[in-house]
Amino acid sequence: MEFSQEIIQSLREALNATPNNFPLRRHLAELLLAHGEPGEAAEAFRDALKLSPHDKQIQIGLAESYFKAGKVSAVKVLLEELLKDKSAPPKAHQLMAHMLVSENRLAEARTFYKQALAANAALQDDELDKKLFLQVSSQLRLQDEVSPADSLPMNVETPPAPKPEPIPLALGRPEPADDLLESEKPEISFADVGGMESVKEAISLKIIQPLKNPDLYRAYGKPIGGGLLLYGPPGCGKTHLARATAGEVNSGFLSVGINEILEMWLGQSERNLHAVFEQARGTKPCVLFFDEVDALGASRSDMRHSAGRQLINQFLLELDGVRYSNEGVLILAATNAPWHLDTAFRRPGRFDRMIFVPPPDLASRRSILEIQLAKRPCDGIELDALAHKTDGFSGADLSAVIDQAIEDKLREALKSGTPAPIRQKDLLKAIKRVKPSTREWFTTARNYALYANQSGFYDEILHYLNLK
Ligand SMILES: Nc1ncnc2c1ncn2[C@@H]1O[C@H](COP(=O)(O)OP(=O)(O)O)[C@@H](O)[C@H]1O
Ligand SMILES: [Mg+2]
Repeated sequence: MEFSQEIIQSLREALNATPNNFPLRRHLAELLLAHGEPGEAAEAFRDALKLSPHDKQIQIGLAESYFKAGKVSAVKVLLEELLKDKSAPPKAHQLMAHMLVSENRLAEARTFYKQALAANAALQDDELDKKLFLQVSSQLRLQDEVSPADSLPMNVETPPAPKPEPIPLALGRPEPADDLLESEKPEISFADVGGMESVKEAISLKIIQPLKNPDLYRAYGKPIGGGLLLYGPPGCGKTHLARATAGEVNSGFLSVGINEILEMWLGQSERNLHAVFEQARGTKPCVLFFDEVDALGASRSDMRHSAGRQLINQFLLELDGVRYSNEGVLILAATNAPWHLDTAFRRPGRFDRMIFVPPPDLASRRSILEIQLAKRPCDGIELDALAHKTDGFSGADLSAVIDQAIEDKLREALKSGTPAPIRQKDLLKAIKRVKPSTREWFTTARNYALYANQSGFYDEILHYLNLK
């Protein structure tokens, strides 16, 4: 122990002289981890990661240090990033098994542990053996001895049934059904979206102006195409804004929601996706909006479907506009969980512009309240005071405040027989009852921004949180 302390000390001194020496940094981090200093090891691994941000061994070292230091959410974030890649080090699977065991998700833990062992038998782990294998063997015995028909109702965890492979439905059908989605003509425009000025401007520059002045853009050699991805906490107007964009340019609006996306897993997924794009190309000008698009990119659980990769590739093919022209089609997407998004989405010509949609600031809250109260009977409303009292509220939270106030008024009106306008005190009362919903999102986002900020992807969030 003392000897290693000496080595650690001399490594530190050496690093003072050559701070960018990557092998030395790695060595120091590994030593600290091996000698029961997970907190210091984590720091050392993070320093090493700065020198080589994509080094998987360093990332896994960092994850293990956090694990040993009991920083559960940081481990999860790192593992989720690591496990997106099929070639993740087997140690990542073993750590994931530990995390799952701690959440009592034993069946999943077992799968990860087995994968780890299959890749590297040295990853055998007494604790995991104890918690997982004993149960496996007793289950196997049960399965061997008792056929399902005559099994007794026993309180034993059953292994999950294997998921059926997606079946290509109706492969022989010549053409996919046309018009999978209902096209809409939204009646709202940017004027109905409170605040969000910089987001509106980005949408205007990147997708509305090219649509209106294609020649101008071509003259400057600016490629037209690619999409815009809006991300941020739920309820802050992403979907609302996408719909308003269509209204703004008086175009059709095709929205592919989470349900449509999930249904695409059923076999004909690539075809369905192609049909959706074709429908948009046939109704141009058109805003084609993918809501909760992370469902299309592979999140951890989706990775098990073999269709995942193919569907993403099809999506990228449609987006790239090489084989098919997307002129006149404005492509927007939104997600509350950008960390689940496949990184291939972010390359140039695809969703290369990611726009953070923050919770509404003071002025935006005022303007959202103004818009939403405009059509209601009101009396003596002081918007500024309301805006001040709603820090952390999303646009959806503000709608909820107004809804609550209206419900109260209705109840009173039913009793008294005479309707009365909404007053300031009604809204103040409702504000106390509605909980601001954006803070929780930032707890998660902050972890990704701090621990998985490869290529500065989450810089906007760090700025927003004053962490950078
Ligand atoms: N900036 C805004 N201006 C006006 N209304 C808003 C705004 N942001 C949110 N809302 C209201 O909140 C609701 C939920 O917003 P939504 O667009 O669905 O959020 P997100 O897609 O970001 O989760 C909208 O239907 C709208 O009524
Ligand atoms: Mg939405």
